[in-house]
Amino acid sequence: MEAACFAAVAAAGTTWTLTRRWLVTKAGGIPSGASARRRERKAERYARAVDRRRAKGREKRRQLADLKRRAREEGTDGMTEEEAAQLQSNAARSSRERRSEATELEALVAGSRLTILVNCAYDCNTARERQSLAHQLMGVYAANKRNRSRSPAQVVVWLPAPEVEGKLRDKGAGNWPAFRIVPREGAAATDAAAAAATAAEAAAASEAAAAAAAGVVVGDAGVKDRAAAAAADGVQGAAALAGSEWVRESPGRVVILTPDSEVELDRVEDGDVFVIGGIVDRSVRRGQTLRTALDLGVRHARLPIARALASEGEELAVGSVLNVDTVAEAIMRRKAGDEWPAILSELVPKRIRAKAAKKPAKKRGEGKDTDGGEWEDADA
Ligand SMILES: C[S@@+](CC[C@H](N)C(=O)[O-])C[C@H]1O[C@@H](n2cnc3c(N)ncnc32)[C@H](O)[C@@H]1O
Repeated sequence: MEAACFAAVAAAGTTWTLTRRWLVTKAGGIPSGASARRRERKAERYARAVDRRRAKGREKRRQLADLKRRAREEGTDGMTEEEAAQLQSNAARSSRERRSEATELEALVAGSRLTILVNCAYDCNTARERQSLAHQLMGVYAANKRNRSRSPAQVVVWLPAPEVEGKLRDKGAGNWPAFRIVPREGAAATDAAAAAATAAEAAAASEAAAAAAAGVVVGDAGVKDRAAAAAADGVQGAAALAGSEWVRESPGRVVILTPDSEVELDRVEDGDVFVIGGIVDRSVRRGQTLRTALDLGVRHARLPIARALASEGEELAVGSVLNVDTVAEAIMRRKAGDEWPAILSELVPKRIRAKAAKKPAKKRGEGKDTDGGEWEDADA
């Protein structure tokens, strides 16, 4: 009898598994007549409901496992189900927010008249410095986001080294709004390579001029070598930038920012293109970007750090060297109309001021604090 009943259930196409006990107690024997057919239909409905519930459970477990796997990858293992659900909803929300932020920044930048170009064509950075440069470039993007409502800028990363570019792209920089990477490929790369090849030769020919521009007294062999290296870097930076649309089409708008300039920057005008050296010199080589400006024949300027901080009652040496992202943010804030003392007292790191107060200025050419200039730690 039981076997016959099992066969009947299977024939009805149900996929559920009935226990012998259930059949005996619920079906109560061989189904026959109208009431038996009702019981059969009821059993089928029940089986379908069970199937649906089980499928739902399977899907939920699959989603949870998926979330946990992703959480493990993101380093947030050990979450409760609620936390996992929260993570999922946060992820959805932040991707929505990211999309709307990107749109907002694009819209603002469309009306922007400020370009900040980081010239990364210098090959003087060590591997560690290149890592640091990539972080600073991310900092430039973050600064642009912070200041977007007041002075959005178009940021251009000019000919970064492959590993710098790779690190940025890994972080999604290829899709960041108002952040354009011009890679070392095609014509631009050829120019950069040609510049690199001729740099040493050009530097040798103009070593004395470069040293003078950098304010270095030639005589000591080490100082001479550094001046020659800085000159070679400057020439390389100039050659790589010479082919850019800004230098070709509107050289009058280009301002190379360099701590070694005699000229103090005051205003940031509409349409200006500020060029920052993509250099992280843990041991400062003076005059690299000044040499680039002199070679290109474009304007150059330094941030008025000493004067701005003096007006706030602080003393700091002229020629202080800041990180790329700090300089970029200073320009954005000046464009927004902030005054230099307010900008620089906020952005110049305290340790530079502390060092300046503690240490007497070193003599020219003595490593990183040359010419009394102080140095912002690139990794900080
Ligand atoms: C770490 S610095 C590298 C300094 C490098 N030795 C040079 O000759 O430019 C990175 C870049 O930030 C900008 N920068 C840093 N400090 C600056 C200052 N006080 N005034 C203007 N630009 C500055 C320059 O464009 C510089 O190339």
